[in-house]
Amino acid sequence: MTSPHTELPQPQIHSLRRIAVLTSGGDAPGMNAAIRAVVRAATFQGIEVVGVRRGFSGLHRGDMRLLGPRDVANIIQRGGTMLLTARSTTWRTPEGRARGAQHLKDWNVDALVVIGGDGSFHGGYFLEQEHGIKVVGLPGTIDNDLYGTDHTIGYFTAVETALHAVDKLRDTAASHERVFVIEVMGRHAGHIALDVAVAGGAEEVFLPEDEKDIADLLTSLKHSEARGKSSSIIIVAEGYPGGGQGVADAISRETGVDTRLTVLGHIQRGGSPVSSDRVLASRLGEAAVSALIAGQSGVMVGRTSNGITYTPFQETWEKRKDVSRDLYRCAKMLSI
Ligand code: F6P
Repeated sequence: MTSPHTELPQPQIHSLRRIAVLTSGGDAPGMNAAIRAVVRAATFQGIEVVGVRRGFSGLHRGDMRLLGPRDVANIIQRGGTMLLTARSTTWRTPEGRARGAQHLKDWNVDALVVIGGDGSFHGGYFLEQEHGIKVVGLPGTIDNDLYGTDHTIGYFTAVETALHAVDKLRDTAASHERVFVIEVMGRHAGHIALDVAVAGGAEEVFLPEDEKDIADLLTSLKHSEARGKSSSIIIVAEGYPGGGQGVADAISRETGVDTRLTVLGHIQRGGSPVSSDRVLASRLGEAAVSALIAGQSGVMVGRTSNGITYTPFQETWEKRKDVSRDLYRCAKMLSI
């Protein structure tokens, strides 16, 4: 058997001449690593790459330029996206999409790689349906809320960033014997909140997927006190009804306990990507180019325990990736 270490990759035979890549929606650490991987894998396969700036609004305006391997040097470790990103409104109209499609045709682009979340995949979906342009997506969002991939690019870094903040807040919570409510990102999904709660040893966690009542929290705070706990960390996903503010207000109002709220906000979207995000982005960027060569379109390229996966765009937003109920149960058990 050939050793995997000596097996050199060979360029494939295909008909692609030029592809485009853009980042869209909320930025996520690791997007740069994904851009780099797309540009370099494509170049390896003899395909030119056009970078589109500012997502779909840049595509609408024709804000594009050729990118070579040296243009993506020294970015794998950087947060944000060198291509810039936007939440486009022009793209919501058929006329806006037609202009973008025309720019791709003018630039002789055969296919597009969209790096973003479900909003961005909607954009790619319409481009394919209305204009027959081949599009593949890469999951780039800190929320980890896309069906079809175990993890999204940026998620691991966001969890680390939030966790560092929780660790620091715990020091001051313990010193002052206070309750700290910490709101983390996650508009529709509680993946960040649950991981941060378990890793940060939180007393309670509130998820958008939850029906949990504040009354349960008040009871559990009372029990905590009776068990000798003098401070508490409560993690709330921003998508939980009322958010962190609602939970903090309820605690103060109902118990009079000295409570502080910290909203971590956009700090979770920035910073140098951790190794897991860089590796995921690199692998998926390369897989996106291979998928296009193989004739795939209208799919998100993801990774699960079964390897690289191809999920139709519609499924990525129609099907739900649930938070782990097991982990939730575990969080509850360990917070006694
Ligand atoms: O990209 C996902 C996300 O960070 C969500 O967690 C958050 O709700 C939203 O984006 C914030 O978006 P904006 O940067 O447009 O305020």
